[in-house]
Order: sequence, then structure tokens, then C-alpha cells
Amino acid sequence: MSHTVLVTGGAGYIGSHVAVELIEAGYEVVVADNMSNCDMTCFEGVKKVTGRSDIPFYKIDCCDAESVARIFKEYRIDALIHFAAFKAVGESVAEPLKYFRNNLDSFMTVLGAAAGNGGCNVLFSSSATVYGEADSLPVTENSPRKPATSPYGATKQMCEDILEHTVKAGIGIKGTALRYFNPVGAHPSALLGELPRGVPNNLIPYVTQTAIGKRECLSIFGDDYPTPDGTCLRDYIDVTDLAKAHVAAVGRMIGGKMKRDYEIFNIGTGTPVSVLEIVRTFEQANGVKLNYRMAPRRPGDVTAIWADPSLANRELGWKAERRLSDTLESAWAWERHLAGKDD
Ligand code: WQD
Repeated sequence: MSHTVLVTGGAGYIGSHVAVELIEAGYEVVVADNMSNCDMTCFEGVKKVTGRSDIPFYKIDCCDAESVARIFKEYRIDALIHFAAFKAVGESVAEPLKYFRNNLDSFMTVLGAAAGNGGCNVLFSSSATVYGEADSLPVTENSPRKPATSPYGATKQMCEDILEHTVKAGIGIKGTALRYFNPVGAHPSALLGELPRGVPNNLIPYVTQTAIGKRECLSIFGDDYPTPDGTCLRDYIDVTDLAKAHVAAVGRMIGGKMKRDYEIFNIGTGTPVSVLEIVRTFEQANGVKLNYRMAPRRPGDVTAIWADPSLANRELGWKAERRLSDTLESAWAWERHLAGKDD
């Protein structure tokens, strides 16, 4: 008998990649998305990659309790993965109430529907941003969370706490928080990937848009950091590897293998990579020359952060496998697909 997983925000970048891996692992998937931050490109890609044209899709706002409750009435939901949230760090600083209202209300609404339906396994899309500027690296799940440097980061910390307390209430909710490091790349099929709206905030889409000519020049924010080459260090995790971690976590929850009713896992490669290394690897992997310049530091950036992923490796039986060069090739193939320049 197959199990059914509700993926909120499932038409978005990470949600769509997770939907693909869940379906390919034998799960039934129901997708809910209000399409406020994406179009149907990735969801159509999910259907093409999996060959499934019958994936249930609800265009709803996860803050709407009635709409969410309807899904639980129409399907037996064995696990819920919550991606539906706003995620632009800079925008969250300018519009904090928009972020607190949407990101907290949507999560509490889906949790309420799950609890009202007799309980559920809930997986929350968290972020390494909860660690802030860590005192020591790599960070483990026991590394202290630092005061959030943005409302976006604050909502991730608050949603982790909301989930933990809801689990503790003993109302049938079990919870897992996956703390992603930097999700990058696109599905190898080049049929789904990152679709930033407007000027990309994140590094990789800015790199690919510069390479394809949509952007004039990549600005590297700071080359005077205390790192080997002066640019910031991050843990860039391939989005397909990240998606597979969700499948492993869902299997653990549904299979009753959790050791505690609320668990946290770092999902990263464990390998720090600098911005300049990203640029050089991208150029070598794709045979393109990137136009870039050194620019002042970006406020709010941490110097370095990368994961100790050993808990996820051990307990989830999951490990990041894709090479960075392959990931950057997939990002480039996706950008070329978007420009209609498929090879
Ligand atoms: C990476 C590095 C920049 C753009 C954030 C969130 C995280 C997650 C991913 C949402 C930094 C540098 C970037 C550019 C650059 N959230 N950079 N030029 O800030 O590590 O993480 O996004 O998905 O929770 O905190 O990711 O890709 O913005 O930056 O030099 O044009 O690239 O300074 O060092 P970040 P990023």
C-alpha cells in the first residue's frame, strides 16, 4: 500500500524536486501551492519527469484553514512536508510583518489541520540560517541557534519552536526539521529548477543569468573576509541530494523509526566552498567565462557556515552524492533550457 505525502509549496524550487523524488520512491503526492512565488513551470516539469499527469494540485493559500482542511478530508495524508513560505532574506528585512504573518500563519494552519485530522508526520523546511554566525565550524544540530539577523531567519527559528511544542502537546503530531544549507542546482532533466523572480538574491541564479547574458556582471560581495581566498564560505547542497534527504526523513517517520518525536537534521555536504571557487568551478564545468567584479560586503552575510552532516548520514542513511561541478552543470543546463537554448 503506498503512502500519501502532502507537499505545501510543492510547485516551488525545492518542493518540486522533492515531489519528483517522492513519486520515484513510490509515494503518492498531493501538491498545494498559492503560486505567489512561482508559476507552473516546475510543476509541469514534475509531471514530465515522473510521467504522472494525475498529481493532485490544489491552488490554495496555506493560511486558509478551510482550504487546507479540505485536503485532509479528501486524502489520507500520512506525512506533510511544509515548504510554503516567503524566503527572500532582504525582502523580509523591508517587510517583516508580511513574513511573520505568512510564514507563521501558514505553518500553524497546516499543523492545525493535521492535528484536527488525528495527527500526522510533519516535516518542516528549516534553514542553516538559524545558526547565524556560528562560534565554531562545522555546525552540528546541537550548535546554538543565534539571534536571527532577518525576519526570514526568525520565522525559521519560530516555526521550529512551534513544531517542537506542538509535538510535545501529544496531539498526534511527530516532527522533523531539516536545516538546509545552500540549496543549488537543478534536476538533471533540466525540466525543473530555480525560478527567481526579478533580480536573483542568491548566488547561483545570478551566476547563470550572468553567463547567459541576462545580467551584465556578477558582483562578488566582499573579498576581504578572513577566509583562504577572502570570499565567504558556504555549504552548497545539490537540490536533488536535498530532495532525497526528504524522502529518507519521510520514510523514517512513516516507518516509526524516529528516536524522538521531534528530530532535527543538518542537510549539507559538510564541505565549505567559497564564492570564488563557485565561479571558477562553474567556468571550468561549463566552458564559459564569467564576467564578475569584486564589490563591497553585503550586510547580514556571515563569513562562513557549513554542516557537520554526520547525524543525517547515520540516522537517515542519507549522504550528499553529487559533485559540485555536476551541480553547476545542471544549473547551467536549466538556465539554457529557460532561454530556449537546450543543447
Ligand atoms: C551565498 C554567498 C553572498 C549573490 C540565503 C539564506 C538561506 C537560504 C539561501 C533561502 C554569500 C554571495 C550572493 C551575489 C555574491 N535561503 N553572493 N553575489 O545568503 O548564504 O543564504 O539563501 O533559500 O537560508 O540565508 O545565500 O546565495 O544569497 O549567498 O557574492 O550576487 O554568495 O555574499 O557569500 P546565503 P546566497
